[in-house]
Amino acid sequence: MPDIAPETIYLADYTPFGFIVDSVALTFDLDPRATRVTSRIAFRRNPEASDFDFFLHGEQLKLNSAKIDGAAVSPKITDKGLSCDVPDTPFVFEAEVEIDPTGNTALEGLYMSNGMYCTQCEAEGFRKITYYPDRPDVMATFKVTINGPHPVLLSNGNPVSSSEHHAKWYDPWPKPAYLFALVAGDLIAHPGEFTTQSGRKVDLNLYVRPGDEGKCAFGMEALIASMKWDEEVYGREYDLDLFNIVAVDDFNMGAMENKGLNIFNSSAVLASPETSTDMNFERIEAIIAHEYFHNWTGNRITCRDWFQLCLKEGLTVYRDSQFTSDMRSAAVKRISDVIDLRGRQFAEDQGPLAHPVRPESFQEINNFYTATVYEKGAEVIGMLKTLVGDDAYAKALDLYFERHDGDAATIEDWLKVFEDTTGRDLSQFKRWYGQAGTPRLSVEEAWEDGTLTLTFTQHTPPSVATPDPQPQVIPIATGLIGPNGNELAETRILEMTEARQSFVFEGLGARPVASILRGFSAPVVLTHELSDADRAHLLAHDTDTFNRWEAGRTMARQSLLAMITKDAAPDSAYLDGIHAVVCDASLDPAYRALMLGLPSQSDLASALHDQGQVPDPAAIYRAGEAMRDAMAARFADKAQSIYDACKIDAPYDPGAEQAGKRSLGNAMLSLITRRTNGDLAQAQYDAADNMTQQLSALACLIRAGDGETALAKFESQWRDDRLVMDKWFGLQVLEAKPEEAAAVADTLTKHSDFNWKNPNRFRAVFGSLSVHHAGFHHASGDAYALLANWLIKLDAVNPQTTARMCTAFQTWKRYDADRQAKAAAALDRILATPDLSPDTTEMLTRIRG
Ligand code: PHE
Ligand code: ZN
Repeated sequence: MPDIAPETIYLADYTPFGFIVDSVALTFDLDPRATRVTSRIAFRRNPEASDFDFFLHGEQLKLNSAKIDGAAVSPKITDKGLSCDVPDTPFVFEAEVEIDPTGNTALEGLYMSNGMYCTQCEAEGFRKITYYPDRPDVMATFKVTINGPHPVLLSNGNPVSSSEHHAKWYDPWPKPAYLFALVAGDLIAHPGEFTTQSGRKVDLNLYVRPGDEGKCAFGMEALIASMKWDEEVYGREYDLDLFNIVAVDDFNMGAMENKGLNIFNSSAVLASPETSTDMNFERIEAIIAHEYFHNWTGNRITCRDWFQLCLKEGLTVYRDSQFTSDMRSAAVKRISDVIDLRGRQFAEDQGPLAHPVRPESFQEINNFYTATVYEKGAEVIGMLKTLVGDDAYAKALDLYFERHDGDAATIEDWLKVFEDTTGRDLSQFKRWYGQAGTPRLSVEEAWEDGTLTLTFTQHTPPSVATPDPQPQVIPIATGLIGPNGNELAETRILEMTEARQSFVFEGLGARPVASILRGFSAPVVLTHELSDADRAHLLAHDTDTFNRWEAGRTMARQSLLAMITKDAAPDSAYLDGIHAVVCDASLDPAYRALMLGLPSQSDLASALHDQGQVPDPAAIYRAGEAMRDAMAARFADKAQSIYDACKIDAPYDPGAEQAGKRSLGNAMLSLITRRTNGDLAQAQYDAADNMTQQLSALACLIRAGDGETALAKFESQWRDDRLVMDKWFGLQVLEAKPEEAAAVADTLTKHSDFNWKNPNRFRAVFGSLSVHHAGFHHASGDAYALLANWLIKLDAVNPQTTARMCTAFQTWKRYDADRQAKAAAALDRILATPDLSPDTTEMLTRIRG
């Protein structure tokens, strides 16, 4: 462990910066080893501040010279930044620093990726570019000059002038440094154009490396669709003459919303039918929308400090999920989001990394780009909209944009626009931002003389972050299904505010089945004891598409838990119930495919842990396999005909309609292969003209034990395509038998294309290993040890990605003593590494507990 305890930063300690920045001018003289950055920054005292000590952040910079109002100064330098005496009156600070983009393997600040220069500044990367008050509440206009021998030289805002090896940019919108960006390289533009609602023409470009030109069309379409949608739904128009997106191969995250110059992980933007799956297309469309939507929710209105991260991220995730719902199927999107929320956010909330949507302290902000801030942050906005209604939501958003445009805002500001719009008191609702933990909600029913009484109890397990949780406001969307399967009343929003509270439905002829938490109206764990017959009734008849799916999911979970703990047989009522839904050709194929999904193995481990049991990963795995076998048998009568009905004669289209058919067809292929052999999968593999069909068939072949030839063929076909090869690496780990997963991963790390410094490639192997529940938590402990070895190695090069990957261990205390001992040994070994980064140290200290 490091000798110096890392510093903890508290929300409660916020104070404004002592100075206002009026303007920033930067000049970059690019050089792979020694880039010179010259800055000229105009400061004046901030009338709202009381502390005028002049401190600028700066890390890993070589200061060549500094001046104040033209006179040389000798500031005091530490490894965190620079301080010096400054005048009381407005002044200009100038500095020349030197940085090394090639040596920057952390991919934060200015770095090189495959010969191109690019930047990543969120959250605190700008301080690795030059000395600056690198905090989001300091906003300024930037003028940028780039000198370099590259055909393409980009920065934020509008181009001012350019000549060979020289470009000038000006961004008229004041912004925090985390939104700064620069790109230089030998890039090709895929152009586009958009005319805004007020008639302004905006030039669009998607910049890629030569060879990737054929993967741009979809991203450009998605961008145009996003720009149109934000005008139509939120009334938000784009505000520069130009919008650029650049694809880079080495990137820690998905993408970044830099003003006018979004930078994307190439996996989050490049797409073609031959190389991308339907899921890739959908994700790319969503990420392009997400980054574009940040232009208003994040850039025009930014965050006062990093504790307010959910202000931009929760809202922007909420907006991109609305967009996807509008572009595709709202029912399918909601179900997919809930699966994701349960898998990632609930797990986080249940373990040592639990934190509120708005944390109150942190050591390394990079460690708080979490499912809680993003996905639970979006759920909180969805609840707010449910509570106030669509019209009030729209009015509140208009007020938010009007009141806070140009501000660095807080969650208090956000809630205030809702209070002012509706007259509601949101102080209890605010607990959703301040309390960690997932509320457990249970319901009891009483029936008498045509009156149904639902009594709810809420309870949030205490955590280190929130030792004494208080009752939250829970909007519980509830409907009633009659004995004939008809809906008896419109969906009602029950607004629960107490720890225990009853709601009454009167004047009912016959006892209905209550459909509770429709649309997953709150991020809670609901326990609703129902008879098997009533649950099956909901699966057959619920008019709420989410709850209909949820009824099947609950039956699957209960059956699997009984198989794991009591050696029960698969529940035939469940199998019959989903058989009926899946065979109903009047339903959307995508929805039918979702019905065939099972709760993930780690979700089952969570459920067991919640019941006070110690989950056995091997038993969970076996139960899943047995259930899949039972499904294959139950669908033996219809699988082939559904598969055939899913054949598509038209050219490939990534839209929801074709994607849904492929998804259902491939679910059938997997059941057929399980029951027979790999012949049909082989035929599909050989005939495939798109990656969805090719990869699904390959997965089936591997599972059938017939994957070797196809894997070799796949490799020789795609060896020059990095993104496809990531799939090749990942799939082999994902589909490995539990006892072989660590060995398969280990072998892949010896492959000549295992470029471990590339985050996508590292994640392809180790991200897959960590989500392979039975493989990662195999009793041998081999996967724990292997991942630890590689995290130690990667930390020296890229702390941010290392720290993220540590979350693989977040559930280690759920398991038995042997596994715990092996996990603890792995964690301690990483923690004992000399010079471990603060990022990884913070994560592991929290996880180790
Ligand atoms: N702000 C980015 C987003 O949500 C995510 C990101 C964070 C990217 C930090 C890079 C670094 O779109
Ligand atoms: Zn975002």
